[in-house]
Parts: sequence; structure tokens; C-alpha cells
Amino acid sequence: MEKVPPPDSRIDMERVPAHIAIIMDGNGRWAKQHGKTRSQGHEAGARNVRVVTEACRELGVRALTLFAFSTENWNRPQKEVDDLFRLISRAMQQYANRIHETDVRLRHLGDLDGLPKSAANDVRKCMDLTSDNKTMDVCVALNYGGRAELVRAARRLADEAARGNIAPEDITEDTLAQHLYLPEHSEVDLLIRTSGELRISNFMLWQISYAEIVVTPTLWPDFDAQALYDAVIAYQSRDRRFGGRP
Ligand code: IPE
Ligand code: IPE
Ligand code: MG
Repeated sequence: MEKVPPPDSRIDMERVPAHIAIIMDGNGRWAKQHGKTRSQGHEAGARNVRVVTEACRELGVRALTLFAFSTENWNRPQKEVDDLFRLISRAMQQYANRIHETDVRLRHLGDLDGLPKSAANDVRKCMDLTSDNKTMDVCVALNYGGRAELVRAARRLADEAARGNIAPEDITEDTLAQHLYLPEHSEVDLLIRTSGELRISNFMLWQISYAEIVVTPTLWPDFDAQALYDAVIAYQSRDRRFGGRP
């Protein structure tokens, strides 16, 4: 497999974002531009996941979260939904060994039980294979919605309160964060959206509170390692104040 270029020398390797989240958008427009079918656009998008994962690993990023299928994407035509899950299954089978060899752990956020059985199984297999890996977490958001995640957290907390395990006044930002899908990744440093759309589309509503946002017009299948490095350079030029003063 071809290697990604080494990190851009303009990047300060001491200040790399620990958690990058990406809304991988623009496969359809990429297909149109190239006179291909939407399905071929999604295929190109799926291939690009490996490139960006490896670039993040080169940088020493600890967690990469990728928005692959939203709770709203069920509204697409059945054929497109079928194609997407077929591709997701194929990617899990094709890349599982590569992910494992590079000490990357696959995680999931969203509702796996709502996926077609075979796709859910392929995701579970890859998670099982890589569960002890330590270098980086790749978290794939599949059948994921930010509102659904918060409703799930609220229900779990309400359930614990009803059982008398927690008092309502003891519910804090920390306890809520503990009930997200992946509590250890409850803070995003850099949020990237490809294809120029200026919206969040129900992605990680809690986690992006203080994320730096980079929107690039580049369509997802064209977003290569250098595009990722450019986004990190933009991130490093920002002044993260968290409401305070510099
Ligand atoms: C992103 O590409 C992939 C998914 C949402 C699954 P799109 O399919 O949304 O591409 P555009 O936005 O139509 O170009
Ligand atoms: C967001 O892209 C979801 C994913 C990238 C998986 P969409 O293409 O579904 O978002 P909208 O419809 O433009 O808001
Ligand atoms: Mg889109």
C-alpha cells in the first residue's frame, strides 16, 4: 500500500490536536464532477478513509472520529443506503488487518443494532480484532445522531436517578459526558467538514462545544494527507481562548 507523505514541516508536532472529527461530505458531488455514479463516489470516499487515518497516525493524533452515516441518512433512496452499507462491510473486511498492524483501535458511536446485520457484524469483528491496540482510536459514527446520543444519555441518567443511584443535583457536565457513546473522547479539538457546507448536520453536538472548525471546499474523495496537514496548520494558527482572555 502506498505510504502517505510525512507531516508538513510547518506543523508544530508538540501542538497537534488530540482529537480530530471529520464530516466526510461531498462524495455525490465528486461523482457528478467525474461523470461517475453516486455509488462510485462513495467508493472513492471509502478508499480515502485509509489515507486520512494514516496521515493522522503520522501526526500522533490520539483519536479520529469519522461521520460515515447519520440517523438522517436513512432518508436517502434504498439503493444508496444498501450501497453504503455494502461498502462499509467491504471496508471493514479489507482494512481490518491493516488497521490492526498499525496498532489502531476501531471504535463505534451510534446505534449498531439499527444497522443491517452483516454490516454490524463486520464492524464488530474489526472492533474485536483491534480492541487491545493503543496508538490511535478511529471512531466511526454509523447510524449516529448528536441529538439521539444526548437523548440516550438523558435516559440513562434518568434511569439511574429513578433507581436512587444518583441524585438529580449530582448530575454535572462530567456525569453527562460519562454517558456519551465514547466518554473518553468527549472533547473534539478540531472539526473538519469537507465540501464547503456550513452546517453541523447533527454531528457530536456536545463534543464540539469548543472545537476549532475548519470547512474546506475540497470534496471528501479529494481530501488527501496534505489537505489534512493544511487543516492542522489552520488549527495551530487559532487562539483557543475557551471564554477566557489570552
Ligand atoms: C457524504 O457524501 C457521504 C454520506 C453522507 C454517507 P454525500 O453523499 O452527502 O455527497 P454530496 O453531499 O451529495 O455531495
Ligand atoms: C452529513 O452529511 C453526514 C455524513 C457525512 C455521514 P450529509 O450530506 O448527510 O448532510 P446534509 O444533508 O448536507 O446536512
Ligand atoms: Mg452531503
